[in-house]
Amino acid sequence: MDYKKQIVADLQAAIGDALSQEELYNFLEVPKMSAHGDYAFPTFSLAKVYRKAPNMIAEELIEKLDQTNYENIVAVGGYINFFLNKEAVSKEVLKTIVSEKAQYGEANIGEGGSVPIDMSSPNIAKPMSMGHLRSTVIGNALAELSKKIGYNPIKINYLGDWGTQFGKLIVAFKKWGSEEAVRENPIAELLKLYVQFHEEAENDPSLEDEGRAWFRKLEEDDAEAVRLWTWFRGESLKEFQKVYDMLGVTFDSYNGEAFFNDKMDPVIEELESKNLLVSDQGADIVSLEKYDLNPALIRKSDGATLYMTRDLAAANFRHDNYDFVEALYVVGNEQSIHFKQLKAVLKEAGHDWSENIKHVPFGLITSGGKKLSTRKGNVILLEEVLNEAISATLKGIEEKNPTLENKEEVAHQVGVGAIIFHDLKNDRMNSFDFNLEELIQFEGETGPYVQYTRSRCESILTKANWSVEDFKSGVALNDEESWEVIKALNIFPDKIQEAYQKYEPSVMAKYLIDLAQKFNKYYSKHKILTEDAGREARLSLVYSVSVVIKEGLRLLGIQSPDKM
Ligand code: ARG
Repeated sequence: MDYKKQIVADLQAAIGDALSQEELYNFLEVPKMSAHGDYAFPTFSLAKVYRKAPNMIAEELIEKLDQTNYENIVAVGGYINFFLNKEAVSKEVLKTIVSEKAQYGEANIGEGGSVPIDMSSPNIAKPMSMGHLRSTVIGNALAELSKKIGYNPIKINYLGDWGTQFGKLIVAFKKWGSEEAVRENPIAELLKLYVQFHEEAENDPSLEDEGRAWFRKLEEDDAEAVRLWTWFRGESLKEFQKVYDMLGVTFDSYNGEAFFNDKMDPVIEELESKNLLVSDQGADIVSLEKYDLNPALIRKSDGATLYMTRDLAAANFRHDNYDFVEALYVVGNEQSIHFKQLKAVLKEAGHDWSENIKHVPFGLITSGGKKLSTRKGNVILLEEVLNEAISATLKGIEEKNPTLENKEEVAHQVGVGAIIFHDLKNDRMNSFDFNLEELIQFEGETGPYVQYTRSRCESILTKANWSVEDFKSGVALNDEESWEVIKALNIFPDKIQEAYQKYEPSVMAKYLIDLAQKFNKYYSKHKILTEDAGREARLSLVYSVSVVIKEGLRLLGIQSPDKM
C-alpha cells in the first residue's frame, strides 16, 4: 500500500488547497535516518503561501493534523516527520502478501499492450559474446517485469545471420576449411576461419572483394552459397541453444536479419517515393543533417543492402504485426548512433510510431581492462563460463553441505544465478571487467547471497512446521528490525514498476540485496522460533520475505532453490 497517499490526505485536510495533492505527494521525502520518521514533509513548500518561516509553519501545522493514523508526528526544524503505525502497517503488509503470494506486485499498467523486445541477437558463425549475454539477461528481465505489470512482451532473437561477413566466411571455408573440422567443432572452427580471413586480408585486399562477391551470390540465391550459409546457421543455432537452455531463456521469434532479405524492396521504394533517397558516389543514402547525424547508408554501390536496411524492414514488420505500444532494442551502447539513425529515417518517412522505438543500451564488458574482439579471436566462451560457475558452485556445496539432495540441480541454479545476478545488479550503462573469480563469489552483494537468504527462510519455516494455511490474519510486529523489513516488503510493487519504467533490472537486483540484508539483520537480533505470542507474526514475516525474494529473482530470470 502507498502510505504516502494517506499522509497527503491528512495534510490536505489540514491545509486546504494551499498545495495540490500532487504537489504534496511530490514534496514528501523518505528521510535518510529512520530516527527522522518514515516520511518527512518539508514545510518550506508552504512558505510562500503562509509567509512564515518553515519551522513556524511546522509547529502550527502539526496542531491541525489528524494524528490517529500515526504512531507519532513531530515537527523538527522545517519538517514534519511522520512515524507510521508499525502494528497497523505490518498487519496490512503481511495479510496482503500471504493472500496474494506470487501475484503480489501485479498491476495492469500495460493494459495488454504489446512490447516487442529485440534481445540477445548473436551473430551466426561466431561465438556468443559477453555483450550478447548482457542483452539476453537484460532483455529477459525486462520481458518478465513488463508482463508482471500488464504488458504483453514478445521476445525476439534478431539473429545476425546475414551480411557481408557470410561472404567472407564462405571464401575462408573454401580456401582453408574442411567439412569434417566444421562438423566436429562448428563454432570454434568457423571462428578460426573468420580470424584467419581478417589476418590474411591485411596483406591481400583482394580477399575482401571475393568476400563481397560471395555475399552477392548469397543475396542472389546461388545454390552453393545458400547451402553453406544454411549449414553454418544451423550449427550455430545448436550451439546458441545450449547457452539459452542453461540460462533458461526462451524466445517468441527467431526472425533474424536473413528473414528480411526479401522484405527490403518496399522499404527502399518507400524512401524513393518520398524523395528521401539520394545517390552518393553510387550508393543510396538518406541525409540526416537536420538531426545532426551522419547520413544513413541504405544501399551500397554494388547493390548490396546493409544492417540499416534490414533494421528498417524489421521495424516496419514489427509495427505491422505487433501494433506495439513500445518496441525495445536491448543492444550495446556502441550502437546508439545506429538506433538514432534508424529512428530518424523512420521519422523522415512520416512514421510517428518511430517515437515508440527505444534503444535500451548497456555498457561494455572488458577482460583484463581490454576490449573483447571476435576479429582478433579475443573472446570469452559463454558456455565455458557457465560451466565453470556451475562446477565451482558444486565444489562449494560438496565442501559445505555434502548431504544436500539434488546437488547438481542446485549447483546449476546457483552458478547460473550468480552470473545473471552479477550482470543485472550493475546499472546497465556501467561497463565492467569480466572476472570469473569475482563472479562466483558467494558473499557480499551477490545472487547466491540473496538465494541463500531465501533458503534460510524456507528452513526456518520447515523447522517451525509452519505453512501458509496456518496464517492468522491480524498478526502484527512492532520492533525496529522487522519494521525495516516490512517497509521493504511494502515497496516491492513500486520497485517492479520503477525497474521496468527505467528499463533498469538493477533496480530490482539492488532491492533484493537490500531486502535480504534487512532480513538477515532481523534474523540475527530475534529468536524467531521462541514459543511466545509473537511467533505467528514472525513466521508470517519469514514467509513473506521468502515469497518476495522468490518472485523478485524470478523477474530477473533466476531460480530459487528451497535448500542450498
Ligand atoms: N547482431 C547484432 C550484433 O551482434 C545485434 C543486433 C541488434 N538488433 C538489431 N535490431 N539491430 O551486433
